[in-house]
Amino acid sequence: MEKRFRVWTYKEGEPPLFHKGPMADIYCIEGHLIDELESGNSPFSVRHPDEALAFFLPVSILNIIVFVYRPYTNFFRSRLQNVVKDYIDTVSTKYPYWNRSSGADHFLVSCHDWAPDVSAAHPDLYKHFIRVLCNANSSEGFKPSEGCREASYNRSIFAFFAGGAHGYVRKQLFSFWKGKADEIQVHEYLPKPLNYAQLMHQSKFCLCPSGHEVASPRVVESIVFSKFSVHIPVAKIPQLKKILQGISEDEYTEMQKQVLQVQRHFSLNRPAKPYDILHMVMHSVWLRRLNRRLPPLHNA
Ligand SMILES: *[C@@H]1O[C@H](CO)[C@@H](O)[C@H](O)[C@H]1NC(C)=O
Ligand SMILES: *[C@@H]1O[C@H](CO)[C@@H](O)[C@H](O)[C@H]1NC(C)=O
Ligand SMILES: *[C@@H]1O[C@H](CO)[C@@H](O)[C@H](O)[C@H]1NC(C)=O
Repeated sequence: MEKRFRVWTYKEGEPPLFHKGPMADIYCIEGHLIDELESGNSPFSVRHPDEALAFFLPVSILNIIVFVYRPYTNFFRSRLQNVVKDYIDTVSTKYPYWNRSSGADHFLVSCHDWAPDVSAAHPDLYKHFIRVLCNANSSEGFKPSEGCREASYNRSIFAFFAGGAHGYVRKQLFSFWKGKADEIQVHEYLPKPLNYAQLMHQSKFCLCPSGHEVASPRVVESIVFSKFSVHIPVAKIPQLKKILQGISEDEYTEMQKQVLQVQRHFSLNRPAKPYDILHMVMHSVWLRRLNRRLPPLHNA
């Protein structure tokens, strides 16, 4: 993939909505990918669009939400949707690339819950478009963490969760476990002096209930912090403690080893390194691109 996959990033648009995204916290993947591909150092980037196998739309969904959506009191999701649609209108008028593939060799990357919504308003326009999202019932989300070191296996908290009461799964979790048992620490909002990363690090099990969306960065966070994950069906939330206590030390150690093997796929490096999260994003776009028959490249 590194030898052959080449990407060209559209130059149109101004920061902060384009060419610049969040570089920290849970939505940072869009910012880092934009920055990586536009840095001039990425092995994937090319200077001329005719050398490219895929075209990147350097749009930051989070910045659109912050700068174009939130400042208004009448919250129309169309405001968010129109920014991306207008961008595509602009580049598809100016260049031949979008039209020749109907967007099938074009991609956007975002981890925000609302990113899928951008295309929901114009399903035809985005029929072939490649969207790299965190909401695809898989867990590509990433929260870079300084706390992710191998050393500490002192997990004095049995199970831990802190987060908003979004969605019915969390409501159930709170109704059964919030404030109930010391070994199971379920918080809605973390009281001020407590440190989220540190608590996760100290926890044997990090609970990752769905929010409004299926995927949650917590799955990835727990891989990074705890190197461990177990799936518990929603209906079994009341038996959470019993299920987790039923996992033996040997099983726990074994699963921890297995998760360590995939940990590098969730690590953020700048510049990106083979097999890390940014390369995995590029790899998923590459696979999608390979599965599409497109008009031959001009010079290929
Ligand atoms: C691409 O298609 C759109 C819609 O049909 C059209 O307005 C635009 O001019 C086309 N772009 C190019 C470069 O021909
Ligand atoms: C994604 O999750 C939703 C909600 O749990 C579920 O209804 C849907 O079937 C899932 N989709 C896939 C492809 O697994
Ligand atoms: C483990 O962490 C707890 C809570 O932070 C602390 O009180 C305890 O001393 C630690 N134990 C070891 C062996 O580091």
